[in-house]
Amino acid sequence: MTRPIAHAVSRRHAVLAGAALGLAAGSGRLRAAPGAFTIRFSHVVAEDTPKGLAARRFQALVQERSAGRITVTIYPEAQLYGDHDEVQALQLGAVEILAPSLSKFGRIGFPEFELFDLPYFFPDVARVRRITQGALGQRMLARLERQRLVGLGFMDNGFKHMSANRPLLEATDFVGQRMRIQASRVIAAQMRALGAQPVTLAFSETRRALAAGVVDGTENPVSNFWTQGMQEVQTDLSLTEHGYLGYAVVTSQRFWQALSPSDRALVRDAMEQALAFGNQIADTQNEKAFAALRGYAGTRIHALTAGQKDRLRGAVQSVHAGLAQRIGADWLDQARSALQRTE
Ligand code: SIN
Repeated sequence: MTRPIAHAVSRRHAVLAGAALGLAAGSGRLRAAPGAFTIRFSHVVAEDTPKGLAARRFQALVQERSAGRITVTIYPEAQLYGDHDEVQALQLGAVEILAPSLSKFGRIGFPEFELFDLPYFFPDVARVRRITQGALGQRMLARLERQRLVGLGFMDNGFKHMSANRPLLEATDFVGQRMRIQASRVIAAQMRALGAQPVTLAFSETRRALAAGVVDGTENPVSNFWTQGMQEVQTDLSLTEHGYLGYAVVTSQRFWQALSPSDRALVRDAMEQALAFGNQIADTQNEKAFAALRGYAGTRIHALTAGQKDRLRGAVQSVHAGLAQRIGADWLDQARSALQRTE
């Protein structure tokens, strides 16, 4: 199993060093021959996940279609930048592409993205796609311009489950549990509504924090749980399916505008295809991880009854109204009407 690589240099130092390199090379492009450049794609998960494999597909497509003129270098597992500094690195020109989870956009000034974190809001991934692949999703991506970012598209991982060193089947099971969360106010509110204490930690720090007992539990789709080796430090996984995890792929305006129109089209098309591929394999990657987990004796897997799910759903209802108040009811109304539309 791959593990995040520890870095000797501090993150801040790495951002600045990377930015200096980017500036020296001109808009983050490292020129080797006329027209040749490298796209650095940084993400925080393992390679054998939906996002990791979609990044690989993007790399293969770009390199093949540019006949090797454009190189894509992928830095998985927060090897280069992690949750705390990746957006800053992108804005400074130290990397060209990121694919943060949608939950991480709230903290950088896009709270409307946190609607994807609402617990028990989306019945299935097909309905999430009505938003991500529809007008509302486009409106969200367009807003990224305010931070000099360009949104290249959305991608699914899947539904999250709760893990800890005890089953989490009823709200009372959560009381007093310190639960690692992403930097999302909606997820924090969800954990508080369940009686747990939310602790925001970078993804790359999560397994270590679980192992050290700094936190008791967490939430993630099985593909992330398994590929981080969280089964080695959590005795119970409860199949709550309470929330969605997906991604938005972003680049910086500075990099995007420096591309020639034909390179921009090449990169956009390759990304569209890579994201479609990622969406196609997300379910199977989660099922593959789930099958592996079922064969692992150290973690008990608990299916919830319909009654248990209903009670959890009831316990977190207040979170929906809280977000509507914060981002304006309009976003939630539009999301609800996309979900209810008959197709
Ligand atoms: C990811 O899938 O990119 C990480 C999710 C998390 O931080 O829990």
